[in-house]
Amino acid sequence: MAASSTSSFVVVANRLPVDRVPESEGSGFRPSPGGLVTALEPVLRSHGGIWIGWPGSSLGDDDVFEADGLKLKPIELSDQDVEQYYEGMSNGTLWPLYHDVVAKPAFRREWWDAYVQVNRRFAETTARCAAHGAVVWVQDYQLQLVPAMLREMRPDVTIGFFLHIPFPPSELFKQLPWRDQILKGLLGADLVGFQRPGGAANFARLVRLRQGHKTHRDKILLGDGRQVAARAYPISIDFQRLEQLAKSQSVMARTEEICREIGGDRRILLGVDRLDYTKGIRQRLRAFGELIVDGAISVDDAVFVQVASPSRERVQQYVEVREDIERWVGRINGNLGRIGRQPVHYVHSSYPREEMAALFQAADVMVVTPFADGMNLVAKEYVTCRHKNDGALVLSEFAGASDELKQAFLVNPHDINGLKEAMLAAMRADPRDLSRRMRAMRKQVREHDITAWANAFLADLAA
Ligand code: G6P
Repeated sequence: MAASSTSSFVVVANRLPVDRVPESEGSGFRPSPGGLVTALEPVLRSHGGIWIGWPGSSLGDDDVFEADGLKLKPIELSDQDVEQYYEGMSNGTLWPLYHDVVAKPAFRREWWDAYVQVNRRFAETTARCAAHGAVVWVQDYQLQLVPAMLREMRPDVTIGFFLHIPFPPSELFKQLPWRDQILKGLLGADLVGFQRPGGAANFARLVRLRQGHKTHRDKILLGDGRQVAARAYPISIDFQRLEQLAKSQSVMARTEEICREIGGDRRILLGVDRLDYTKGIRQRLRAFGELIVDGAISVDDAVFVQVASPSRERVQQYVEVREDIERWVGRINGNLGRIGRQPVHYVHSSYPREEMAALFQAADVMVVTPFADGMNLVAKEYVTCRHKNDGALVLSEFAGASDELKQAFLVNPHDINGLKEAMLAAMRADPRDLSRRMRAMRKQVREHDITAWANAFLADLAA
């Protein structure tokens, strides 16, 4: 349905909250992958406004349209844009560089040129969609040049930027051949938000060192008299909506079904991730397999369920990580399982929210082990679904969520023995201890939900 094309509140992200389903798969729309959409969809719903982004495939029509009560403005990407701007510069260069070079970033000049061009198109479209004096909120690493480009086109608008992934220390960031252009791009915003205080500090240090700007606390003082604030705003989820879903009869019934089907009297350990090399999936499977080999647990008392949703499947490192994980699953099941008793259930698929809520409730232990992660909303979703105050969370100290979920079993995912100990401790913990931990974590997420996050950012932006 066509809708009015300007707004006083505009969210700009690489992806729209919905992906167009290709005709070959039935057409229509489905929710887009990733934490950014999970978090921001309820924000747009409550604030109104337009969301500008890529619908994942061609729509053949670029008017503002309405889907599920949200006003959306699609931006088309050509095959070459997808290859060079999205798979290349965004996910072959910036993603690994910003995630502690867990994989090697590639620096390709044609990717950079495409990144500049696509960022300009996003800025131009935003300039057309923003009403006079509008608030524009630009999201994530794919669009770091948009703030400065938009400021030049539309000095009347207020611009916020939020980075959903870690912002690296200057020693890593300095590798980027286009480091100064990126910093200038971000400085076009009035407020630059990060997941963790360390990210904000890294950014402030870089603009001081490389651009010679003075900084005072969390303010950057630009030569032209303008000030840019750089602060941490740990992102969250819609606690109430998810908790309500988890408590619904249909989800509770499905939970029981899952427990019967795969659990029985076995403890269920669960991993849920986009299939990404930053997530430490292999390490957690390996730790689980070793626990069986050591005799600490057996296939009759524990099962590991790993849901890995397909992601960036044409990028070479993602092809490799999938092969690697599937090899490990095969090896563990082949060596340690028997007919009818698989130690690992692995699915390469994404599921609707209802199914995920049921899985979270069925899991005795949630295992979240990224090497680097802006926040990791899966950890917060698990906690939200545990309305009976039971269940255990094993959480990497390298996920932003570990700053808030301190009662989790915290681990260093590079340390396989430590990981094994934490998984075992989580499986063997006293239920009263688990309940105490879970109550504290649930309180934290309930009191720091997505509304609190958006209100804090937007209030600072207005100020
Ligand atoms: C992360 C990023 C998002 C991204 C999402 C899914 O959460 O921070 O910007 O949209 O992953 O990745 P994709 O490449 O499929 O958009």
